[in-house]
Amino acid sequence: MSEPRVDPKVMESIVSLCKRRGFIFPSSDIYGGLSSAWDYGPLGVELKNRVERFWWREMTQLHDEIVGLDAAIMMHPRVWEASGHVENFDDLLVEDTVTNERFRFDHLSAEQREKMVSPAGNPLSAPRKFNLMFKTHLGPVEESASTVYLRPETAQGIYVNFKNVVQTSRVRIPFGIAQVGKAFRNEIVTKNFIFRTCEFEQMEMQYFVHPSEDEKWFDFWRAERMAYYDKIGIRPTHLRWKEHGPDELAHYAKAAFDVEYLFPFGWSELEGVHNRTDFDLSRHAEYSGKDLTYLDDQNNERYVPYIIETSAGLTRSVLMILADAYEEEAVGEGDVRTVLRFHPEVAPITVGVFPLVKKDGLSELARDIERGLRESFTTFYDQGGAIGRRYRRQDEIGTPYCITIDYETKENGTVTLRFRDSMEQIRVPVGEVEAKIREATKAYRRVGL
Ligand code: GAP
Repeated sequence: MSEPRVDPKVMESIVSLCKRRGFIFPSSDIYGGLSSAWDYGPLGVELKNRVERFWWREMTQLHDEIVGLDAAIMMHPRVWEASGHVENFDDLLVEDTVTNERFRFDHLSAEQREKMVSPAGNPLSAPRKFNLMFKTHLGPVEESASTVYLRPETAQGIYVNFKNVVQTSRVRIPFGIAQVGKAFRNEIVTKNFIFRTCEFEQMEMQYFVHPSEDEKWFDFWRAERMAYYDKIGIRPTHLRWKEHGPDELAHYAKAAFDVEYLFPFGWSELEGVHNRTDFDLSRHAEYSGKDLTYLDDQNNERYVPYIIETSAGLTRSVLMILADAYEEEAVGEGDVRTVLRFHPEVAPITVGVFPLVKKDGLSELARDIERGLRESFTTFYDQGGAIGRRYRRQDEIGTPYCITIDYETKENGTVTLRFRDSMEQIRVPVGEVEAKIREATKAYRRVGL
């Protein structure tokens, strides 16, 4: 199996495939696009929804102590004062004084920072602070009292609902609250396709623990999160941990580790696991005047819980999954097939269904079989072109299974089931296709791993 390279050409191929096959389009494409915003097309939205569902099942369904939440994007402005975002959620911005190109100061090399020169070697402006939150106004009058922010992280919606959840659900510490949703940051530099955008989605889980157990749960969640990436079929050699040094820690964190992925443009952050201590609940208690302590009625102990946070980007995960899956594989003399080796659970389409030819009732038979599979899987019916080309079209969008209906199907009720990764083909009775696909999905291991 060929390894994906750290290579800008791979990134270009992924962006081009995404547009060509309907995964991801530039936002407002007919107007020339909007930098840093992207639209998810028919296949992209399926992929994103499946990644979200995979995470949701992992974090809520498989953990009876974790419950879900869906908080509003706009929140009371005091939330962002309490959280520290109004004061601290800044990047240092510098500008190339010749080209006017803007850079994040922390993204420049140590040498460039020391010499105060841009990557082009031109003098830089003095660094200035730039708050990343988008501001808007609620109601018809633009005055400071009506200022609201588009949330820059989903986490705060969870903290301000801590009391509501404790009072209405049967949760006891340790427990978690999970949420998936949009977040917005006025990023100085957006690049690398959907990696860093101004509008993106996060999948966050906040785990409330006794202060004396924070380190135990921090280690637990680090292990869980790495295991999750293995489960979703990501190559372990393309994942690593990066610890935040004391000067890199966010204002709320006692300890933080990033899961980094080897993207085609190099190692970059995918997810953060943070020990946020009692910072958030204490600050919201202070700013709201509400009691946000937790009463352990078994020990009669009252305390402010510590929070262990797992914070992954959903849209960034989609890019990671595309990059990890993308392969140009040599098959035979001078032939190359483009294949997306998605885990079958996240592939936008699970089964392609084809009649070998359109005539002799094979189309009708194939349609019937495809309809029968719809209740269980996302299917795609295709009767156009040579069968080999139809397989290749499905390989390129990552469909893990294809079935072909031919003359033998009419005679003995069997179909050809073809596996994307190995290209192996087996004969299976129609009635066993569903079970076979479920079995193969359960046992799925990516080739070469
Ligand atoms: N609540 C903690 C928090 O938001 P973060 O490290 O700032 O922590 C968590 O963000 C994750 O959200 C990142 O690891 C990344 O996957 C995603 N993310 C952050 N900013 C992003 C952006 N501008 N575009 C896409 N994803 C982003």
